[in-house]
This record gives sequence, structure tokens and C-alpha cells, in this order.
Amino acid sequence: MNADHPATACSPLGTVAGGDRLVPLLDGRHGRYVNLDSAASTPALCAVRDGVVAFLEWYSSVHRGAGFKSQLATKAYDDARAIVAGFFGANLQDRTVIFGKNTTEALNKLSYRLPLRADEVILSSVLEHHSNMLPWRLHGRVELVDCRADGALDLDALAARLRQRGPRVRLVAVTGASNVTGCISPIASLARLAHEAGAELLVDGAQLAPHRAIDMRALDDPERIDYLAISGHKLYAPFGTGALIAPRALLSRGVPEYVGGGQVEMVTLDDVLWSAPPDRDEAGSPNVVGAVAFALALKELARLGMENVAAHEIFLTQYALKRLAAVPGIRLLGDCDPARAAGRTGVISFLLAGKPSFMVAAILSAEAGIGVRAGCFCAHPYLLRLLGVSAAEQDLVLQQILNNDRSHVPGAVRASFGIYSTCDDVDALADALTMIAEDRYQGVYDLDLPSGTYTPRGFAPDFAGYFSLS
Ligand SMILES: Cc1ncc(COP(=O)(O)O)c(C=O)c1O
Repeated sequence: MNADHPATACSPLGTVAGGDRLVPLLDGRHGRYVNLDSAASTPALCAVRDGVVAFLEWYSSVHRGAGFKSQLATKAYDDARAIVAGFFGANLQDRTVIFGKNTTEALNKLSYRLPLRADEVILSSVLEHHSNMLPWRLHGRVELVDCRADGALDLDALAARLRQRGPRVRLVAVTGASNVTGCISPIASLARLAHEAGAELLVDGAQLAPHRAIDMRALDDPERIDYLAISGHKLYAPFGTGALIAPRALLSRGVPEYVGGGQVEMVTLDDVLWSAPPDRDEAGSPNVVGAVAFALALKELARLGMENVAAHEIFLTQYALKRLAAVPGIRLLGDCDPARAAGRTGVISFLLAGKPSFMVAAILSAEAGIGVRAGCFCAHPYLLRLLGVSAAEQDLVLQQILNNDRSHVPGAVRASFGIYSTCDDVDALADALTMIAEDRYQGVYDLDLPSGTYTPRGFAPDFAGYFSLS
């Protein structure tokens, strides 16, 4: 795709289940649902939905089942592993793919399975999602490198810290892209720095994988990614599967953090012979449908071309940064120069002067059918840093939370794009934000102190009219 060609870039690149659904609005009308929350979770690609429906006809237990369907399902599960590995440039001879629920589980697994000496350090950054921060705090000493004024990872500071700490750094653990500002980490440079210092590189790929091609490279390549964590539900396969891709050698040793069925060669009354990877690290019955869905999504993304995914998104991000900059009173977080849109993903966080972020999100939903997210996006240290919230102010907010008042929790609004997003979506957002900034919204929004969220007075849509389990 030519990124300079608006007509092409403004069409969706891929089609998703429910992409044309109408949702109820405050004024009684229905409007097209504008999904600008793909950084949290993406809808299923139609190819994934249809493939899953087809597979369900053949679904059965995997691994030890003797029947035809079990054999077929086992092959599909193994093929899914190979497809995930191939998509990220991982060779299954020396690497393994461990399926689990999501990125969080993958990162927790690695934090349990990576042997750490007491004096070793995990070098990470202030940009991290809590999923790439809290697991490490449980297991070792974590040092965080700050961000630059524009919100990007400070590579010079990281290099300096690596020089300072030397061989004590066991792992450099960074996000591939921020879930707040969208800035993309310089992975090749990080890999070189980490490996020169004798450390390994972990990339939290939750936010990068949906937007850019990731090549883990060979295990002897200085620009390799040693460990990669990803989520299927952020890659158009919301069926409960994610993965950790790691060197086979590491996961051939040690005892998994979860133990039970499916991971052993033999159990006696007082001994266990663990299986080889990947089985050793997949306790219990696996989510076969989730793994198949994940593979279907990656196949479809490969068919569309990750270079086209990137070009589509860069165009939309440029367009959005230009349009949003004209909204009165808006403050965009991070590097908001449209000319540098290629260095970030289509994740845009912002504040509107004088308007609480949760209220802005509520108005966007009720009056424009736009789905965004408000809050701190599970990246509290980064958001507090970007917003310049002092330690004293943080203490005050903590006290207020303890008193069940979350109305002062700092936060922003986040809009994020997927392959189904279009210029119309950006226009809808920019127009609605201008309407809010100019106080032209219709509803009255009530604050709920314990949650800090807002609800439109007198508007309680009946979900049962759309989907119900009863
Ligand atoms: C950068 C980043 N890392 C990790 C995660 C955790 O992903 P999951 O909730 O799928 O485990 C997220 C989720 O938003 C994320 O944005």
C-alpha cells in the first residue's frame, strides 16, 4: 500500500466480526460502533471466526487421544505452534513456543523459569506495562531506566546503566511498543547493547506484534530477541491464547511454576521425569481452540502483509495526529509529530483541558458510539511520569483510594487503531472531541466516586436486546 494515498489507506485493511454493528446512543438513535480500543483487545478477524467454526467440527482432546479427531486436533495444535514460531522468525530447532493465556502469563512464566542469582539485575524501563514490571519485582532486583522528554525509552541512559552494572545485568526487559504513547523501542540497538554486556533481551510484544513485523532472528545474531511474549487477543484472535517464545535450552531445565498433567515422561511415588519443551511448560489440558485461532490470525496477517498493516496504520496515525491537534484544549501525550508517525504505533493518549478523562470516554460512548479507554492503562509509573504527578500528589491519591474515592486518580483517554480502522473513525473521534471541548454535549454525566467513572443520567441500554445468555 502507498502510505501517501488516502483513498486506499482509508479503507479497512481487514474485516472483523461485528465490524458493522450499530450501538444505542443517548439521543435514542443507533450509530455505527467506532472501535478505537484495539490496544486493549482486538475483535476476531472474520477469517479467524470462520476458521474456528470449521475447526470445532473436528475438535477433540490432543496428545494422547487415539481417535481420528484427536489425531487431527493434535496435528492442528502442533501446526499452530509452528505457525506462531514462523511468524516471529523463531526456529523450532533451538527455540520453543509455550502457549498460555496471554502476555501476562508468558512474562510470569519467564520470571519463574529464568534462573537469577541474588546479585543479578533485571534492567527495564519506566514505560513498562505492569505485566512486564510486577513479575520481575517478585523474583529479583529490578532497575528502571527513565524515558526521554518525548516519552520514548532513553537508550543512552540504558546503555550507561548497562556499562555501570556490567555482567550483573541478567536481562534487559522492555516493551516493544508503549501501550500509552505508542512509541516503538529500538529493538535492534537494545539487543546489541544487551548482548555486548552479556545480558539477554526480553521483548514484551503485546503492543508491537499487532502493528509491525517482529523477527526474533537466529540465536547467534547480536540483534536477536531472546524472549518474546505475545497475546492472541491483541492480534485478532480473542480465544484465550498467548505465547512465550524462548530458547529451548532454558526451558529444558528446571521445574515449571505450574505442575500437573501433560508435562511428564514418568511419575513414580517419589520422582518425576519431566518432558522436553514445550510440553514441560504447558501444565494441564491446553487451549487448543485458542492456539488454532491464534495461528489463523497470524496466517491472515501474513496474507495481508505486515508491511501493509504498518503502512495503513502509519497513514492513519499521521492523519489522526493532525486532526486531533486541532481539537481545542487537547494535550497529546508522547511524540505527537505526524512526520514521525512511523516511529510509533496507532495508540494515541490525550487529555482534554477541564474535562475528566473518564467523563470524556463516557460522552464519546454515549453520544458518538465511540469505544475508547480511560485511566492509567496498567502503566501507572509511566503515566504518572508523563503527567508530572509528584510523589506528594501520588501519596494523596493513594489516601483517597483507601477512602474509596477514585475521582482524583490521574489518567488519560486512549484511542487506538487496528487493521479495521479508517479515516472515518478518526474523523468521528476528532469531531466528537471538538464537540466535548466546546461543551456541546447533550447529557448530564454523574460521577461514581468509588470507581471514578461517569455514567450518562437516564441512559441504561438494554444489553439483552443485543446479546444475552439468558
Ligand atoms: C505493553 C503491554 N504488555 C503487556 C500487556 C498484557 O497483556 P495481556 O493482558 O494480554 O496479558 C498489555 C496489555 O494491554 C500491554 O499493553
